[in-house]
Amino acid sequence: MITLAIETSCDETGVAIVESAGVLNHRVIANFLASQIKIHAPYGGVVPRLAAREHVKNLPILAKKALKGYGGEIDVIAYTDHPGLEPSLLVGRTFAKTLGYALTIPTFPINHLHGHMFASFANLTHASGLRLQDVFPAIGLIISGGHTQLYKMDSFQKIELLGETVDDALGEALDKGARILGLPYPGGPEIEKLAKKGRRDVFIFPSPMLKSGDLQFSFSGLKTALLYKVEKLQKSEKSNKLPDQTKADLALAYQEAAFKVILGKTKQALLQGARSLFVGGGVAANQTLREGLLSLRSREFPAVRVCIPEKQFCTDNAVMIALAYAIPALSKR
Ligand code: KG4
Ligand code: ZN
Repeated sequence: MITLAIETSCDETGVAIVESAGVLNHRVIANFLASQIKIHAPYGGVVPRLAAREHVKNLPILAKKALKGYGGEIDVIAYTDHPGLEPSLLVGRTFAKTLGYALTIPTFPINHLHGHMFASFANLTHASGLRLQDVFPAIGLIISGGHTQLYKMDSFQKIELLGETVDDALGEALDKGARILGLPYPGGPEIEKLAKKGRRDVFIFPSPMLKSGDLQFSFSGLKTALLYKVEKLQKSEKSNKLPDQTKADLALAYQEAAFKVILGKTKQALLQGARSLFVGGGVAANQTLREGLLSLRSREFPAVRVCIPEKQFCTDNAVMIALAYAIPALSKR
């Protein structure tokens, strides 16, 4: 099965072609991504109207490149339908349906979050050696700019939400924290870089809802704690510009407090009984968190298979949208 996929949920325009020979057998034929980071960076976050305008500009260029390079038949067009920024989604939806109509290829709407969940199946790099009978029950952990969620999966079709954030998403909290520290957008990778230079235990932030007894998350209080701490330090330093070492110490403490919650809740979810853990979303590109998840597995769940996508497939891309169509479709055959 050859799937052409379109991703336009936020500020990345993605077009991919993926060949799927089986549920656990996928090959990326084309993968194009046009990043809009430079356009939105001056605003400190994504401007929906500008994002939609860029998708309109980028989609035909990327689709042409992908189709020309491949040159073969396409069986299916999969496109991100929800959730995301509505103006951006509308552009992708309209483009996919128009292309499908013109080429008489069926089109399928895809849940962007299912895309993140199945991203580690691309090339099967991290999931290689995985046998279908070893997959379920599985836990899905989505940690992106818009979502922080835990899922229970009994099959590729039966996916149940176990818990999610009641306010900010993890990526959003990192982006907002970075902004407080005067770092550019997107903040997650900037905090990661700065945290590497930070000294442990100089600052300690709360890990919200860690002991709430359920699988809900909350990150807005953590962001406020950072804001108050920065304001206090600025007052005592009598300057708005904090020393680089202080900023690095703050970044480390902030990142650690947030990741502690993610690891704690993931552990709680795995304790419900799981054969595998599927991680997805932009924050899964963070090396410290990747290592934290792998060490949780080796310490407490050695029998659980942890599938974390290659870094390029953690953040938004169209390959994962093709997978979110092809995997459930092929598993039904
Ligand atoms: O999945 P994604 O590309 O978009 C959404 O669907 O939201 O995630 C974007 C988020 C941003 O908040 C960004 O700061 C964060 O992922 N992110 C990271 C890293 N790379 C991207 N956070 C921490 N460490 C990273 N290396
Ligand atoms: Zn996403």
